[in-house]
Amino acid sequence: MKLIIASLVAFLTLLAARNATSEGEDPVPAMSIMDLMVTVITPATDTLWGIEDPQTDEEWQAFIDAANIVIEAGKTVKAGGTGPNDNTWASDPAWDAFADVMISAGIDALEAARKQDVDAMFDAGGVLYPPCEECHIQFNPGVQ
Ligand code: HEC
Repeated sequence: MKLIIASLVAFLTLLAARNATSEGEDPVPAMSIMDLMVTVITPATDTLWGIEDPQTDEEWQAFIDAANIVIEAGKTVKAGGTGPNDNTWASDPAWDAFADVMISAGIDALEAARKQDVDAMFDAGGVLYPPCEECHIQFNPGVQ
């Protein structure tokens, strides 16, 4: 699991680097928002919401890895994607705002995990959920 997460982070970083048109410009996403949601964001949030009582450094590390994925994926969400509606969605300020809440919850989760602070971890997990739901309601009603 840890290895999978680590390679996902590496993969995302690589994608971003490879697709950056030139220095200083936003990276051009290479996958659709849908694929990002299903293959990157969902597994990471399953980990974030699924670890209830981390004890070992390894469990905390899984949490750190998942938080990093949420942060990077949030940035990718803001950049749009290859799906038919992705760039229209991403040009809406409300889209950016939802993604920003997701990114900042990811950063809170990361800090909580680094301090091994269970309460802060749950708080961050709670802040992370509403932007998922609100963005789905606004941009793709019917998505759970
Ligand atoms: C900025 C907006 C936005 C945010 C934030 C967001 N999503 Fe999504 N999500 C979408 C859109 C739009 C789709 C549908 C994409 C499509 O149909 O092409 C989607 C689709 C999905 C799907 C696929 C649903 C299906 O029909 O199979 C899952 C799962 C998902 N999101 C999970 C999440 C989770 C978990 C979070 C929060 C951690 C989240 N999303 C945050 C916009 C968002």
